[in-house]
Parts: sequence; C-alpha cells; structure tokens
Amino acid sequence: MTHHVRAVVVTTLLVAAPGPAPGDEAGVARCGSAKVAAMARACGDLLAAEARFLRTADGAARDRRIDTARARVVAAWTAAEAEAGDARCAADTATAGAAVDRLAAAVAAARAATPPECGRTLVRLWRRSCRTVVATEGAALRAPGDTASERATTLARLRRRMDRRWPAPGCASGIGADEAVPIVLRLASGAAADATTRGMRTVAAEAGRAIGAAIEPDEVAADPAYAPALAHDSGSVTAENAMKWGPIHPEPDRWVFGPADAVVALAEAQGQRVRGHTLVWGAMQLPAYVQNAATADALRGYMRDHIAGLVGRYAGRIAQWDVVNEPLPGILDPPTSDGLDDNVFRRLLGPGYVAEALQHARAADPAARLYLNENGIEAPGPRQDRFYALVQELLAAGAPLDGVGFQAHVGLIPPGQYPDRAVIEASLRRFADLGLEVELTELDVTLVFRPGDLPARLAQQGDDYRAMVEACMAVAACRGITTWGLSDRYTWLRSFFGFDDWPLPFGDAWERKPAYFGMRAALLLHLLETA
Ligand code: XIL
Repeated sequence: MTHHVRAVVVTTLLVAAPGPAPGDEAGVARCGSAKVAAMARACGDLLAAEARFLRTADGAARDRRIDTARARVVAAWTAAEAEAGDARCAADTATAGAAVDRLAAAVAAARAATPPECGRTLVRLWRRSCRTVVATEGAALRAPGDTASERATTLARLRRRMDRRWPAPGCASGIGADEAVPIVLRLASGAAADATTRGMRTVAAEAGRAIGAAIEPDEVAADPAYAPALAHDSGSVTAENAMKWGPIHPEPDRWVFGPADAVVALAEAQGQRVRGHTLVWGAMQLPAYVQNAATADALRGYMRDHIAGLVGRYAGRIAQWDVVNEPLPGILDPPTSDGLDDNVFRRLLGPGYVAEALQHARAADPAARLYLNENGIEAPGPRQDRFYALVQELLAAGAPLDGVGFQAHVGLIPPGQYPDRAVIEASLRRFADLGLEVELTELDVTLVFRPGDLPARLAQQGDDYRAMVEACMAVAACRGITTWGLSDRYTWLRSFFGFDDWPLPFGDAWERKPAYFGMRAALLLHLLETA
C-alpha cells in the first residue's frame, strides 16, 4: 500500500471505530463505584488490623485479618463485575488480590513510619479517614462533574479531625498532623487508583493536565485493542515517527502527509490534543538532502520551507511543537565548544539555528506552544546545566520559546538510573522558574538495566511512574505527560534497541500494569492534595 492509501484506510478505520454505548458507560461506572466502596472498607479493615497488631504484636492474627479483607474484596469485585456484565470494569481495575496486597504493604509502611507509642492513635485516626477519602472516588464515578466539592468537604473534615485529635498524649515528639494527613492521602489514592474505572484521561483533565501517548497510526489501526485504550486513557497524542523530517518530507518537493494526517484525524475524532514531534532534529531520521546540504544558504532554505510547510499545514490543530529535538550532544558524545550537538545545522548555520527554527515555527502558527525537547536532563548535573544555559540564552535573545520537554527515558538515559520524586520535581521547577511550561514528553521506564525478578521490577516500575507523575503534578507549569507508546507490545526499546523490555503502562496483552496504576494514583493524589 502506498502511504496515502494506507493513511486513508487508517483514518477510516479509526474514525469509524464504534464507540461504547452510553448505557454501558453507566454500568461500568456503577461497577467501579462498587469496587471503590469495597476498597474503602478494606482500607479501614487493614488499618484496624494494624491498630490491633500494635496492641498485641500478634502478626499471625494480623495476616488472618488481611486474608479476610482480601476475600471480601475479591467477593465484592466479582459480584460487581458479574452485575455489570462488561469486560471493561475488570480491565480498568487492578486484580483484587494485587490491590489488597499493595494496600496492605502501604498500610504497613505507614505504620512503620510512626513512633510505636503514637501508632495506635494515628492508625485509628487514619482508619476512618482512609475509608472516607477512598469513597470520594466512588462519588466521582456516580456523579461525574461535581467531584471537586465532594473531595474538598472530605479533606476539610479530615484536617479538622487531625487537628482536634492530634498530637495524641505522649506523642508530641512524633509525626505531626502535617505529615499524618499526606500519609493517609497516599494510602487512599493508591487504593482508589486500583479500584476506579475512570480513565487516566478523565482524571488528568480534572487535574488540569494532558496525559497521553506516542502512537504509530498503522499500529493503532491494526490492533483492535489499541483504539479503545487510547480513547479511554489518553487526552493527548504524539506521532512517534510520522511527523519527523525523513518520513514526512523525504525530498525537497515531496511530502508524505498520510500517516501524520491519520494521527491528527484520530486525535480530533477523539477530542485529543496533538503534540507535534519534531521539526528539526540533527541526530536522526533526517533525509539525505538535508544531511548532505552543500551550503548554509541551501540548508537555511530547506529548514524554512520545512517548518513553514509542516507547521502551516496543521496550524491551529497542533497544540505544541518540539521545534528542536535534542539540541545537546548525545550522552556518550564528546562535548563541543558551544555545548550544542555537532550536527549539520550547527555546522552550517552556527548555534543560531535553534532561534531561527523557533522564529519560523512562530510565524507559521502563532498559537502553537514552542518547545525544545531533550533527553537526560531529568537530574541535576553538567548536562542539565548546559541545557539550562542554552534556554537562558534563547530567552535573553527574545527567541519565541514557550516550553521545555523532558524526554524522561527513565532507566535508559542514563542507563540504570531511576527517579527520585524530589529530584525530578526540582528539575522541572528549575525550568518553570524561567517562566516556561514543562512536560514529560517521552516517558518510559526501561527494566533491562535493573536487577531482580520481573514481578519485583514491575512493582518498582509502578513506583517510578508514580514518582514521575507526582513530580509533574507538584509543578503548576508541568502541563502534560506523554508516554513513548502505550503497550509494551510496540515499544521502541524492542524494535529500535532489540531489548527484551516492558517499559510502558500497558502490557503485551493490553493489561494494565503497576505502572498504569501508579500513574493513576499520582493523579488522584494530586486531586486530593489540591482539594
Ligand atoms: C524513536 C522512535 O520511537 C523509533 O520508532 C524510531 O526508530 C527512532 O526514534 N528520542 C526521540 C524520539 O526524540 O523521536 C525517538 O523515537 C526516541 C528517542
């Protein structure tokens, strides 16, 4: 099939994909609400078990209580699924056993964080709080739209209760109410995230953020499970390759718009935002005529025409452009005198090419937010400093720069390094403090450089995703998060690097992984913290 024909087929398939009937949605929401209620009760039960354990030190009795709580959740979730008769209720939620185990581990960790002499009072206080806080997600499912006020009321009640009863006698030296409230919010958001059927897209929109994924349109079209997951969980899409210079503009007078049109059509049909990726990228996927441009004038002309043609075609329809991708040298490349990657643009046009590209993009679509996108800048250090200096110079020179994309290929660049929420948050804030928007633009969490068995690594990956999303939520200027793919089945870590890897929120069979629930927990936590 030619690109054009394929694109038409793809677009038709996607736009014609049948949506769920509205009545079914209500059934799924009811099912989710019942599951949330069961988790709310489980949170109370597990905290009660901890309170008793603190009195009796009887670990076996506690384990029996956890088993009882698990059995009740399993029974309640099974009944809710049977009543809904809709596979989406099961697919959207964690498996009951895993949800209870995660909650039990979180409860035990919370208890361990409190001094033993204070633990019982605190755990008792948490017990009611956790139930009510988790239950607010059930209210969000039953009455979408009015969720903020419900959460605010619950939160105010929780804070009043903590203030009245805390510190307990004899515990003044221990954990304060300021720390005690966030702990129960974390517990509750994790439990609610495992049980709710609200998609990440909905929850993120409520938090004022766009969450989404990079896609290849023909993969979406060929896999019947893809479009429903994308519609439910993504409010933003990025073309993984379709808008790059090589694929879309292979010769000076030839454009291949089909796949990019398909991405935009799909997004518009589903009401999703589009991130444009990417206009000028010296390192890869560059056509030969650009790579081998003979003179500065020729290259300058190519760059101008490319940006004008591509940005102009989609003007008003693409929210953000990664105008220059990876302006810094690769992490393994030697440093250069001006700190910029030694690519054809820098060689022929000098470091000013970055500002020139931004100006062309602004002229072609004044409404689009213009980004620089870079890898390996998530942690402080010389590389982040170099990028910061570049951004500062551009802003000082009045270049039209609106935002910075942190690619966030976690565990890959650099290999084997995993995030610390506070570090990532500080990095995002550093750039936000320049008056810029920031986003996580290519998030994935590679596991190949991490020791341990797979289930343990997948659980850690859930914590990593949670930390990355929490960091973004903590910074008001962090407007969105894009994962580089949605299902492990299509990850570039397999196709490009040949790794045996599982870096994304959905697994090979489109099952939601701990990574998925970690992201959703971070979004729900944000809604609670800001209620
Ligand atoms: C990758 C794609 O995922 C692959 O399919 C392609 O073969 C190479 O490029 N940083 C970026 C992305 O900015 O454009 C890259 O995408 C991944 C690294």
